[in-house]
Amino acid sequence: MPTPTLILGIESSCDETAAALVDRTLKVRSSVVSSQIELHAVTHGVVPEIAARAHTERILPAIDECLRRAGARPRDIAAVAVTRGPGLITSLFVGLETAKALSLGWGVPLIGVNHIEGHILSSLLDEHSRRSLTSRHTQRGTTLAIDKSRLPVVVLTVSGGHTELFVLKDLGNYKLLGRTRDDAAGEAFDKVARLLGLPYPGGPAISQEAERGDPTRYDLPRPMLKHASYDFSFAGLKTAVHRTVAALSKPELRRRLPDLAASFEAAVVDTLIGKAERALAALRAKELWIVGGVAANKRLRSNAQALVLKKNLTLRLPSFELCTDNAVMVAAVGAVRLGEYPGKKSYDDIATLAADPTLDLVDV
Ligand code: KG4
Ligand code: ZN
Repeated sequence: MPTPTLILGIESSCDETAAALVDRTLKVRSSVVSSQIELHAVTHGVVPEIAARAHTERILPAIDECLRRAGARPRDIAAVAVTRGPGLITSLFVGLETAKALSLGWGVPLIGVNHIEGHILSSLLDEHSRRSLTSRHTQRGTTLAIDKSRLPVVVLTVSGGHTELFVLKDLGNYKLLGRTRDDAAGEAFDKVARLLGLPYPGGPAISQEAERGDPTRYDLPRPMLKHASYDFSFAGLKTAVHRTVAALSKPELRRRLPDLAASFEAAVVDTLIGKAERALAALRAKELWIVGGVAANKRLRSNAQALVLKKNLTLRLPSFELCTDNAVMVAAVGAVRLGEYPGKKSYDDIATLAADPTLDLVDV
């Protein structure tokens, strides 16, 4: 019988129910994302109970569809990788229990994945980046590695729940440089969108408005940009937007919406890029990776391009659809962990693997 080659990834940590299949060299075979945006738009944010119920209804159809699209059968699956945290506890349970049942039923290893590590590896999934990874055959199968001369890498993770700067010393070896002290960057986009009367999720809505606006029209703060640490803070920026909105009449606000959106977006992006630039210089790093939902932001992408061009560095960004939550990134961590992995352990025990809503990346 041929050896199974595919890793099934399952993601249900927040409001996307997702399943994906990748092979051992990170090539994507199929990806299904069932977004719950329409369920949470009414409340301008995720309601955990509603999210968990929707995951329960959608998870098996998503996995089924994913196998069908790849023309794969259970005997082709080498392992099941699943997000175990951080995230909403009841949402995490759905993915985790499904993964445990499949792992038990199919008799394949179970791999509990840190969602943030998934986002980080999403920058390695385009064809060019995959080619820059080396793979060698070991007792454990295919072992993937990053060329040592490319290390360390500075990683900026920017999503609805996270804003962090990490140093990636090797696959599976991360050190936290700094994180937000209050709101995450995506959360700031979502909250400011609400202040501006724009729909949920706020990031795409603000960035669409911003395209027609003048980013210099409002002089908004760049919080903690000059602070010696690598930490971020976005709550004050949100308050500054609130104050500006309160001083405008309704018709004025409507007219100024693009300028306000562009000025806010520029303030967030300047702060993120400013801190990343300092980390790159301090570590003499050659690569910058930007991942997570906010990495889909066009201004952030183009300012990051400008930075690496100026400094002669390499930038890795996930494709637009892999910036927001998906299961390809979870399966990718599974593929890396199936080989010889520099992190602590590869497979997990069905009996003891638990969901952890506040899982830290350094614990992977
Ligand atoms: O990674 P993700 O899908 O979920 C979390 O793990 O949090 O990120 C979702 C976040 C939301 O806050 C959303 O507003 C933001 O990413 N986002 C964007 C853009 N697209 C999504 N923020 C700024 N610009 C965008 N184009
Ligand atoms: Zn995420």
